Amino acid sequence: MKLKNAVVFITGANRGLGRAFAEAALAAGAAKVYAAARDPASVDLPGVVPIALDVTDPAQVAAAATRCGDVTLLINNAGVSQAATVLADDAIDTARRQFETNFFGVWALTQAFAPALQANGGGAVLNVLSVLSWLTVPGLTPYSASKSAAWALSNGLRGELKAQGTQVTSLHVGYMDTDMTRGLDTPKSAPADVARLALEGIEAGAFEVLADDISRQVKQSLSTATPAYAG
Ligand SMILES: NC(=O)c1ccc[n+]([C@@H]2O[C@H](COP(=O)([O-])OP(=O)(O)OC[C@H]3O[C@@H](n4cnc5c(N)ncnc54)[C@H](OP(=O)(O)O)[C@@H]3O)[C@@H](O)[C@H]2O)c1
Repeated sequence: MKLKNAVVFITGANRGLGRAFAEAALAAGAAKVYAAARDPASVDLPGVVPIALDVTDPAQVAAAATRCGDVTLLINNAGVSQAATVLADDAIDTARRQFETNFFGVWALTQAFAPALQANGGGAVLNVLSVLSWLTVPGLTPYSASKSAAWALSNGLRGELKAQGTQVTSLHVGYMDTDMTRGLDTPKSAPADVARLALEGIEAGAFEVLADDISRQVKQSLSTATPAYAG
């Protein structure tokens, strides 16, 4: 699909990669950009339409889908990352919280917007995943598991939404320079570059966008005798 004249809905669009998506969509000629955020007052980008949305709140999800019936591109960007070692007392609670946003949130939004996408000609869904869909870092198992589950979900959605002409694209990326990785002293991609690459992938009809070297290396390793996830 083309970004020119698209109507784009982005979750978690107040900061980080979501805000970069909003800027990139406007730069690519989108006709309208809905910038969804838990606190719509925190949306500071000129030219977008702020929408109140916690992706874990079914009533807000339904209200957003009703209000934004002209959407042609849904970007499931909102995400949380909380560390927990697997045997920690709170590990399962921590995992459930992350699954609510990173997995069920993506599912709920796509379910809610699928009818509008179909009515508007098919359109596309972009799911923001991670290199950690394919690799589990000690201490981040709950996050990795949520992103692995969201990868499986994306693949299921792709197959099922094909019939209504909706393209589903997955974005895999390693460290980006956002609040999520603040304090980590490691090379990071610029969110603006990742957003631009992902939108280019959507325009090219890609089922998957690998936005950095680490994502390409880990994906490439999966079918080798020493896949990255083996440690
Ligand atoms: N940063 C990285 O290195 C990295 C790498 C790979 C993938 N990712 C993924 O990229 C996406 C964007 O992350 P980021 O790096 O931009 O992180 P970020 O700066 O921490 O921003 C996270 C965004 O998600 C929103 N959010 C969290 N829970 C939400 C909920 N329940 N409902 C609605 N919005 C919610 C936040 O809203 P509030 O402002 O209200 O908290 C914020 O807008 C996430 O899916 C993340 O998992 C990030």
